[in-house]
Amino acid sequence: MASLRSFAAAALLVNGVHAGKRTLPALAQAINQKSFNVLATVPTAEEYNASSAPWIPQNFTSQGLLEKPFHVYDDAFLDILGPNPTFTILAQTPKDPIFHEAVVWYKPNDEAFFVQNAGNADAGTGLNKSAAIFKISLKQADAVKGSWNATGKVTVTQVPSNPEIPNPNGATQYKGQLLFAAEGQGPNKAPALYVMNPVVPYNTTVLLNNYFGRQFNSLNDITVHPKNLDIYFTDPTYGESNNFRPAPGLQNQVYRYNDKTGAVTVAADGFAMPNGIAFSPGGKYVYITDTGIWRHGLELTLPSSIYRYTVQDDGTFENRKTFAFIDTNIPDGVHCDSKGNVYAGVGDGVHVWNPSGTLLGKIYTGRTSANFQFVGGGRVVIGGETQLFYATLAAEGNLVDSQL
Ligand SMILES: *[C@@H]1O[C@H](CO)[C@@H](O)[C@H](O)[C@H]1NC(C)=O
Ligand SMILES: *[C@@H]1O[C@H](CO)[C@@H](O)[C@H](O)[C@H]1NC(C)=O
Ligand SMILES: *[C@@H]1O[C@H](CO)[C@@H](O)[C@H](O)[C@H]1NC(C)=O
Ligand SMILES: *[C@@H]1O[C@H](CO)[C@@H](O)[C@H](O)[C@H]1NC(C)=O
Ligand SMILES: *[C@@H]1O[C@H](CO)[C@@H](O)[C@H](O)[C@H]1NC(C)=O
Repeated sequence: MASLRSFAAAALLVNGVHAGKRTLPALAQAINQKSFNVLATVPTAEEYNASSAPWIPQNFTSQGLLEKPFHVYDDAFLDILGPNPTFTILAQTPKDPIFHEAVVWYKPNDEAFFVQNAGNADAGTGLNKSAAIFKISLKQADAVKGSWNATGKVTVTQVPSNPEIPNPNGATQYKGQLLFAAEGQGPNKAPALYVMNPVVPYNTTVLLNNYFGRQFNSLNDITVHPKNLDIYFTDPTYGESNNFRPAPGLQNQVYRYNDKTGAVTVAADGFAMPNGIAFSPGGKYVYITDTGIWRHGLELTLPSSIYRYTVQDDGTFENRKTFAFIDTNIPDGVHCDSKGNVYAGVGDGVHVWNPSGTLLGKIYTGRTSANFQFVGGGRVVIGGETQLFYATLAAEGNLVDSQL
């Protein structure tokens, strides 16, 4: 069995050509990892490293990689893509990176929300755009899914959170509302968890803004366990490294909050920069990304990794294991599909692994794609800084009704 299976995979994975029994979808291409196991010259880290341009395998071009953005590294990716995956640029800005983080679905209105925050100097706005929340209609997105570039056809609406959420960076659905992890700003706007009403007047309420009287560092990403419904969130020090928060007062760790009792506990530590967080279907595992290489400038010997823990029945984490190390920049947002495959937003799009950590494929945007989200069925909205992408797949997101 095993040898038949690997023969089939080898037959399929001929560079860029469809071969074997399964046909590649029109927007997909196969990438044979054997083709770059031996290179004529291998550059040093000074010449080529995690922060350089995306990896371009031999005999591919960056344009060619973009034209067929679904890159099949393992034939199991074809089941995720289905026969006709689509890929669309929904919106584009000349310079302002408004499609940055915290992509989240609001199911009742079938809208996707996302944010811009102060972390990115490219905005050129200083801290003036540190609380910009936007939304799009997914009905509009669905209407243009056959086209490559639908810029101008989908309305991007800014939403005035009130009171304003300072530097929102992570979001999840929570009891019919949207729950944001906010990095805070300066010494007086402490990082906090905010609940936002997803409809007019977009009023907000602070759920938690301290750990026994101490400010968090700069809260980054957030999720809810599907069974115990506790809120789990990460707290790295990007506020300090991006010069909008004072010196940190806590180690970089992952917290857990019980909204019934108010209990705040530490779920995990030992990270350089804990960032994205996602539970597997049913909540048996948790995946946490560590974007350590961007702790203070570029430190290439720190993690650019995804770790997995087993979640105990009592909601505590055990058995930390290294799940994946990213080939292009850092793993930022992380989410699972309904079968437990793991997706992370990285330096050139969204990479997808099976639960054993085997890279199955990439949704290639060619640019930093910090976060993304399944927004019902196989629809995926991907934030690419100055471009917003929409993909439709056969895979379905791991979305839990109790959270929606
Ligand atoms: C790249 O193309 C050249 C020229 O066609 C060919 O000789 C070489 O085997 C190809 N390399 C790979 C890794 O496919
Ligand atoms: C990483 O690679 C880029 C070139 O792509 C280079 O400019 C930079 O200095 C390298 N960084 C390190 C820390 O080696
Ligand atoms: C930020 O806003 C202030 C107050 O409106 C303005 O004076 C300043 O020029 C703005 N800075 C940038 C970089 O846009
Ligand atoms: C998409 O279309 C817009 C509007 O015509 C254009 O400004 C933009 O350059 C296009 N983007 C790409 C990647 O082709
Ligand atoms: C928004 O305001 C309404 C009306 O006062 C209130 O019932 C609701 O709880 C508020 N929602 C949030 C998230 O603050």
